[in-house]
Amino acid sequence: MGVVCADWLEFARGLDAASVDLVYADPPFATGRVKRSPPGGARMGRAAARYEDSWASVGEWVGWLRERLEATLPAIRRTGSVLLHVDWRTSHHARLLLDDLLGPDRFVNHLVWAYGLGGSSARRFARKHDDILFYCVDPERYWFEAPLAPATSRRMRGRMKKATDVLGDMTKLQSGHAEKGGDEDEGERGAGDVLDVAALNNMARERTGYPTQKPRALLDVLVRACCPPGGLVVDPCCGSGTTLEAAVLAGRRWAGCDANPDAVRIASGRLEACGKGAEGGTTLDPPWCSTGSFVSTRSTRSSTSM
Ligand SMILES: C[S@@+](CC[C@H](N)C(=O)[O-])C[C@H]1O[C@@H](n2cnc3c(N)ncnc32)[C@H](O)[C@@H]1O
Repeated sequence: MGVVCADWLEFARGLDAASVDLVYADPPFATGRVKRSPPGGARMGRAAARYEDSWASVGEWVGWLRERLEATLPAIRRTGSVLLHVDWRTSHHARLLLDDLLGPDRFVNHLVWAYGLGGSSARRFARKHDDILFYCVDPERYWFEAPLAPATSRRMRGRMKKATDVLGDMTKLQSGHAEKGGDEDEGERGAGDVLDVAALNNMARERTGYPTQKPRALLDVLVRACCPPGGLVVDPCCGSGTTLEAAVLAGRRWAGCDANPDAVRIASGRLEACGKGAEGGTTLDPPWCSTGSFVSTRSTRSSTSM
């Protein structure tokens, strides 16, 4: 049982062909910095951790990503999808890369995660979002289930409606099947590809102390919308394990890897804790994990001093 400590490339090569429903990858963003726990992030028993995010050039980052995505794509089912989480530094490169690897016709959405904090400058508009590129393997067959949100129109009051066209607090979304024939336009503003989820603050209960940890509410929405119940979610740069936890709690299977032993320790602890509490939870021991065949600390970009 466990999250695998390995380079994404090695991990991807061990995945069974056509076995994965959703790949969510949140790689280093090419910031040119060592990413450290946020100030105060290591207090209150939370772990301090860091990972390296320096590259000789953006070309090196693109080459690194290309090799790993190429190795991962054969593992995705015909009905499966990829979500690649990047930001303003590389989203344009990542979009071209995915167009090249999968084909422009496999593009589904350019999602914007609007997180609210930081990014301010007197010299430009504030940078307050990340980009999540959603591509499918087969445009005719990929699985997608619109999230549900409380309807706000008078006619629909008290009912849930498809939330792909709802602008607002995504933490209020619920899983389930969208009602057919609902009133989709009344009283709503259209901005469904903007996911409005606050970034984690240092006091957040789910905060692990791992740098660049994403909020569970964001992954809850993505996992439930893009992976069928019981399907397999893979996160090859899993960090603190947010995606894997969201998968467990949504009744999806999971497989995760990180090159950083600290990430693996934190994610493993988190999964153990949520596995105990999760009702009808998914196995924490997917078949390939039990082979232990990926256990390795070798990585081309592993943070060595953690
Ligand atoms: C942006 S963080 C992921 C954060 C995660 N989504 C979370 O919520 O905690 C990127 C992760 O990629 C990992 N990483 C860097 N190079 C890697 C590689 N070659 N293979 C696997 N993981 C790698 C880093 O150790 C880091 O944990």
